[in-house]
Amino acid sequence: MSRRKKVYEGKAKILYEGPEAGTLIQYFKDDATAFNNKKHATITGKGVLNNRISEYIMMQLSAIGVPTHFIKRLNMREQLIRAAEIIPVEVVVRNVAAGSISTRLGIEEGTPLPRSIIEFYYKDDALGDPLVSEDHLTAFGWTNPHEIDDMMAMALRTNDFLAGLFAGIGIRLVDFKIEFGRIYEGDLMRIVLADEISPDSCRLWDMQTNEKLDKDRFRRDMGGVSEAYQEVARRLGIAPDLESRLHQESNAAK
Ligand code: TMP
Ligand code: ASP
Repeated sequence: MSRRKKVYEGKAKILYEGPEAGTLIQYFKDDATAFNNKKHATITGKGVLNNRISEYIMMQLSAIGVPTHFIKRLNMREQLIRAAEIIPVEVVVRNVAAGSISTRLGIEEGTPLPRSIIEFYYKDDALGDPLVSEDHLTAFGWTNPHEIDDMMAMALRTNDFLAGLFAGIGIRLVDFKIEFGRIYEGDLMRIVLADEISPDSCRLWDMQTNEKLDKDRFRRDMGGVSEAYQEVARRLGIAPDLESRLHQESNAAK
């Protein structure tokens, strides 16, 4: 009973055709995967929380002049976005060592980095999204030096903004991953922030206790995933109605 045409289904989201040309509807699922789909689970309410959190962050970024694909939230699980041609590169910004940089370079988790570090990963599930250099990105034609400059500048602005936003609510922004897309307007092409920014794509640690408030709780089997995402939403001040709404949704599903 699908109301509209599915354009793409990813691990945590589905894209449907939008109401107008150049738009899409981004649907947030409750599915969580890790380690390139080797681990999979459903986390009740995650899609609703990520829809809200990503909406909030994208709107704030847009307000400070970082262009994004976000147009408006439509309902609990869906947002209207501009259709963009996704650049097949995951841009990771790190402030504190954790996850793969700790393993790869032998730096203890929690060690502050000398400065914010940007990394590029080639988006290819079959290869497990390998770390690549700028030279790989340009030599293989996945992007070009001009786009790389734009992506790095936008990634650093996003990092500065998010680090401040989260510090204000007692959360350390350890690292995050973003994606970019190309939007064509007549002869013009520009790059916008795409995908989502949520606890699925960031590492967020409570500043006082170092408690993890992100997807590492799922990756590392720590439990309390949905509660951690709710805590992030609550501290951002975007949750007042969410708890009861999540309740209604899970009751309706029974
Ligand atoms: P990493 O330490 O595993 O390389 O992850 C760095 C950041 O990127 C972390 O905030 C989690 C996020 N991330 C994603 O959003 N998607 C992914 O597929 C991976 C591997 C990491
Ligand atoms: N999203 C990735 C996957 O499904 C991994 C991750 O976020 O850790 O494999």
